[in-house]
This record gives sequence, structure tokens and C-alpha cells, in this order.
Amino acid sequence: MPGPERIEVTFNSGARTRCVIESGALERLPELCAEVGLSGTAGFLCDARLVFAQGPLVKALGDRFGGVLARPVSEKHKSLAEVEAMCETLNARGVMRDGFVVALGGGVLTDLAGLAAALHLRGVPWVSGPTTLLAQVDAGLGGKTGANLRAGKNLVGAFHQPTLVVCDPRVLKTLPERERWSGLAEVVKCALLAPQQDALGEALLTRCERDLEAAARGDEAALSGLIFGAVKLKATVVSGDEREGDGPLAPGQLPRAALNLGHTVGHALETATHYERFTHGEAVALGLRSAIELSRLRGHVHDSDAARMQTLVRRLQVLAPNKLTPLEREAALVAMQKDKKARAGQVRFVLLNSSGGVVVERVEAADCGRALDAALD
Ligand code: GLY
Repeated sequence: MPGPERIEVTFNSGARTRCVIESGALERLPELCAEVGLSGTAGFLCDARLVFAQGPLVKALGDRFGGVLARPVSEKHKSLAEVEAMCETLNARGVMRDGFVVALGGGVLTDLAGLAAALHLRGVPWVSGPTTLLAQVDAGLGGKTGANLRAGKNLVGAFHQPTLVVCDPRVLKTLPERERWSGLAEVVKCALLAPQQDALGEALLTRCERDLEAAARGDEAALSGLIFGAVKLKATVVSGDEREGDGPLAPGQLPRAALNLGHTVGHALETATHYERFTHGEAVALGLRSAIELSRLRGHVHDSDAARMQTLVRRLQVLAPNKLTPLEREAALVAMQKDKKARAGQVRFVLLNSSGGVVVERVEAADCGRALDAALD
């Protein structure tokens, strides 16, 4: 079985996060918390679905942390009311400034519990134990916590870095295969960005090309290697641009906005289909096709690099039908124009660059249509 991997991340703000990637690590969560100096009263917040899917683990951790609050979690629960309920529980449980919050669940639970930790007593430390592949390679690390408003997703939140992130590939084995494919889209996104970072070279891209299907089947060694590479990439990006664009970047540093690669079209597809047809990863997988094609059309990536990238991206399984009705296509184009990062009718795309780094470019409406078609052909 793969051994433990640790990544220590230090942020511009001085915050520090330890990431542990290890099969079975969640069973040792209390010890791992103690190793980073967290030993006061814990508020253990967990996705209610885990009570069934990971019953023994949740019970054992509940016993060690002195109780568990299982919350029903889905995108429709991602509200400030849910954060308030979590804060009431932390208060009732007596979690003080020397205590901490433990979040066990997918991306929604992670974002909500992180926000509750940011708000409780104006901020207590927190630990993230992401239990989906998507959350292990994205929401777990980087400190973007948040909730939805009626007007849109993630419109309220705070940056609050977790002290510890524990990624345990073993808990991913009980997920449906479609969920693992969804997370793999974010891994492949990191792999496309990784060669742009000198320190990481091509290792993650090559590993994806070798291990993608094995990881989708739930192979722990394949998953561990890919999670390590993706978390390492994300750590390198977020440590140098903690709050996304609030200061100068070091030479060669990827901006945090690079993590939105594939998300302009991805979000538009999710919005146009009311978040019901595609998993997030499926939408990102389709969005990556667009980003690669636009990067090629605009001369940022060589044809041969683009072909290699498209070959990998097209191995990501998209189980949802990827044809849009004319109305849905129109809705997707409108969603791109309304993207919270769009300005004056021009949509912002993160594009790849064969000679290193990424290019963030404003794209006119006609090219948005071409980008969308590239995702769906
Ligand atoms: N999910 C993108 C980021 O953390 O910036």
C-alpha cells in the first residue's frame, strides 16, 4: 500500500497547512490533529451520507472527538442558515478559541464547515477531511470557504486556511465510479497546468496518462499518486497567490486564477442545464476541451501539445449526454456573459501556453460560441 506523503504549505499571510495523503489516514485523524498542535475541544461536523457509507469510521471518530454533528448536505443546503446551525452546535459543544473544527465530507460540507470555523468566535482552527476525490484535490486545500445566496453560488465566504488536510484514498473506493471520474477531471486540469510549473515538470501529466482508468476503478495506489500530484500543484499555486490577485506574483508563479482552467465553459454548461445533467467534473472535462482548442486557435499552444492534451482530456468519461438543445446552448452563452468574472460583454478564459505559464484572455462572443462547440463535438 502506498506510504504517507506530506506536503507542508506556507502562505503569504503566514498561515500554514499540512496535507497528508495516505491510505487509512482518516482512521488516525485525532493523532494527526495532535501532531499539528490541535488538542482542545473539537467540533466534529460530518456529511450525513457518511453515516451510512463510512459508518465505522464516523463512529470511531465521533467517539474520539466526543460526538458528531451529521448534517444533510447537498448544493441546496449550502446556505448561511446551515452555517448558522453549525455555529450553534460549535457553541453548544463548548468549542473555544483553543479548540478546533473537524470537517468530514465532500466539497459542500467542506466549504460550509470551513466558513463556520472562520465565523465561530471570529475564527478557530479547522481540519479538512475531504471524502470525495473532487474535494481532496480542490476544496480541501486553499482556504476558500463559502455558501450560496439566492443570486448565485459561493457569493458569501471567507478565506480561512485549514491547519490540516487529510486525503485518504481508501474512502474513495465506496464512491460511485462516476464520482471518481468527476474528481479526475480536476486532476487532469492540474496535470495540464503542471508542466507550466518548472518544479513539477511533466510528472503529473505522465502519471495521468498512465493511471487514469485505474484511478477511476478505485485503485488506491493510482489514486494516491494522482492526488499527491494534484495537491502539490494546488499547493504551489495557492501558496504564492493566497487571495487570488491581491499582490505581485513571483517570477514563474501561476496565478490562482489558473485553477479556473476549463471552468468558464464548465460553469456555463452547469448553469444551462440547472446543475442537473452534468457532474461538476463532467462539465469541467468538457470545458477543458474548449480551453485547449481556444489556446490552440489563438496560437498559445502548438498543435502537437494540443493533440496530446485533447487525447488525455477525452479519456475522461462524461456519462451525461453532451448535446445541448438550441435553448440550452443559448442559455450557456448567456451564462458565460454573466460569469462573475466577465467584463463589458467579454468573457474571461484561462488559456494554456506551450512556452510556460497561462494566459488569461478576454474572449468575444463569437469565439465563446466556437469554444462551446469545441466542448460538445
Ligand atoms: N477552486 C479554485 C481555488 O481554490 O482557487
